[in-house]
Amino acid sequence: MIIGIDIGSTTTKAVAVQNGEVIKTVKTKAFDAVTSATGALGKIVIESNLKISSVDKIIITGAGALKIKDDIFGITTHKIDEITAIGIGGMFLSKKENIIISNIGTGTSIIEANKNKITHIGGTGIGGGTITGLSKALINISTFDNILKMADEGNLQNVDLLIEDISDLDISFLNKKSTASNFGKMLDNATKEDVALGVINMVYQVIGMISVFAAKSRNIDIVLVTGNGSNNRIGQKILENISGLYNIHFEFPHDAEYTTAIGAALSEPEHHL
Ligand SMILES: Nc1ncnc2c1ncn2[C@@H]1O[C@H](COP(=O)(O)OP(=O)(O)OP(=O)(O)O)[C@@H](O)[C@H]1O
Ligand SMILES: [Mg+2]
Repeated sequence: MIIGIDIGSTTTKAVAVQNGEVIKTVKTKAFDAVTSATGALGKIVIESNLKISSVDKIIITGAGALKIKDDIFGITTHKIDEITAIGIGGMFLSKKENIIISNIGTGTSIIEANKNKITHIGGTGIGGGTITGLSKALINISTFDNILKMADEGNLQNVDLLIEDISDLDISFLNKKSTASNFGKMLDNATKEDVALGVINMVYQVIGMISVFAAKSRNIDIVLVTGNGSNNRIGQKILENISGLYNIHFEFPHDAEYTTAIGAALSEPEHHL
């Protein structure tokens, strides 16, 4: 069995892979990389009722990976660059070999993956961390689930300047309900719920558009959305709206938040650092 561990900037994800299949996933959070990695390994072994001796090797990736200097508990431990891991994991989850991956974690990276090459196209600091950070500053809420619940009740018209606010007609392919300016209206009587929705909307619109430009620049029409940011209904709806306007299809795979860890576990020796 191979364990892939992704020490992200906010959360640590680990997967167990056997015969090319993901048999267990776990998520954890600790203050330092060593505690994160050993904790994730312990959790996955104990929760799956496995013996530590059945772990053949560990492959670590993510922002905190370089802090792990040696083998963990005497088990052969390799490291792999995060971008390569996302590319391998993305191709595995999508079952496709020519895709753009938009990995929405704390920040967002955009990757082109095909079976010959994995390329880091770029990214943005706008990501999950922007949602929690801005929500804390603007409406004093920083728990992701609470932000989502509030946004469910929000009205974007009180926050964003929409096309209908500035024009009687659709503009080009944008309909009247499209955002002309994020937070460009910001009514004095906008509620916390409206602001929560405005923040989520802005984050996903930015990520959606840079993903569209990346995909168009490579003549690819599928964007696989991975990371924790793949998993929420509001974000998915915003991306699907963009999909309709630009003919780029966004896919939200099962186990999206484990993509990087899965890619690490499935990587070959030539990928290791
Ligand atoms: N359902 C959700 N939708 C969108 N974002 C979420 C959700 N749940 C948590 N988040 C946010 O996702 C971020 C963590 O995502 P993830 O674990 O993929 O990132 P990471 O791997 O730690 O970071 P990075 O890859 O940028 O180093 C946090 O900022 C958190 O606020
Ligand atoms: Mg990550």
